[in-house]
Amino acid sequence: MNIVLMGLPGAGKGTQADRIVEKYEIPHISTGDMFRSAIQEGTELGLKAKQFMDEGALVPDEVTVGIVRERLSKQDCEQGVLLDGFPRTVAQAEALDEIMSGLGRKIDHVINIRVEHDELVKRLTGRRICKECGTSYHLVFNPPEQDGVCDKDGGELYQRADDNPETVNNRLEVNMKQSEPLLAYYGDKGVLTHIDGQQDIEVVFEDIDRLLRGN
Ligand code: AP5
Ligand code: MG
Ligand code: ZN
Repeated sequence: MNIVLMGLPGAGKGTQADRIVEKYEIPHISTGDMFRSAIQEGTELGLKAKQFMDEGALVPDEVTVGIVRERLSKQDCEQGVLLDGFPRTVAQAEALDEIMSGLGRKIDHVINIRVEHDELVKRLTGRRICKECGTSYHLVFNPPEQDGVCDKDGGELYQRADDNPETVNNRLEVNMKQSEPLLAYYGDKGVLTHIDGQQDIEVVFEDIDRLLRGN
């Protein structure tokens, strides 16, 4: 099954992606995570992406499409993938269709997680992430058992560089502008489902799981 997970910054894409890939045993492909690892490793890709991410802007389509094209050609993607945060523009969606049809595959579901603006700001500014495994926590909505420490592996929790209030506002603005035409694109194709993201994490997952199970 090939799934695209959409949603504005903070909607819960990463949180739900963790649960989906565990149950459906498909690779989790997050362009944001790929850029962040490249920045940490100091690669050429990281250098290209950093300035855009720091501003809360989108990384140019040709760079983003290039890394997804390469990733989708890997053998572990043959049985399906979960794309998190890609595509984000109509141009990326068109490129994805072309890549998928070249591989003899198609997108089965596009899931859009909907959450109100004010809630997104709260979620992003209160988010903390594990240095070791990347799990997202929230100081209030989803706190770890012990302050500053990951429940799963004891890793240290940190705040993402783009989760400061100023960058958060820019990210929300940029992504809102791009998501409208993208939702129309997938709406026309009949693969789009909206999910209410303003419910408990496990309830959101139940809704997604029900959709993927086909009832
Ligand atoms: P990316 O890393 O994808 O960031 P984003 O889209 O801004 O989304 P986030 O990861 O911030 O939020 P999320 O939806 O995953 O929420 P999460 O589950 O963590 O992209 C970063 C940057 O990379 C972009 O700005 C851009 O520069 C670049 N980029 C990436 N892809 C690109 C592309 N395709 N094209 C061009 N540029 C690209 O949850 C958030 C918080 O809320 C957590 O604290 C969590 O615990 C909490 N939470 C989650 N669900 C709930 C719930 N149901 N109730 C209460 N709290 C909840
Ligand atoms: Mg994410
Ligand atoms: Zn961890």
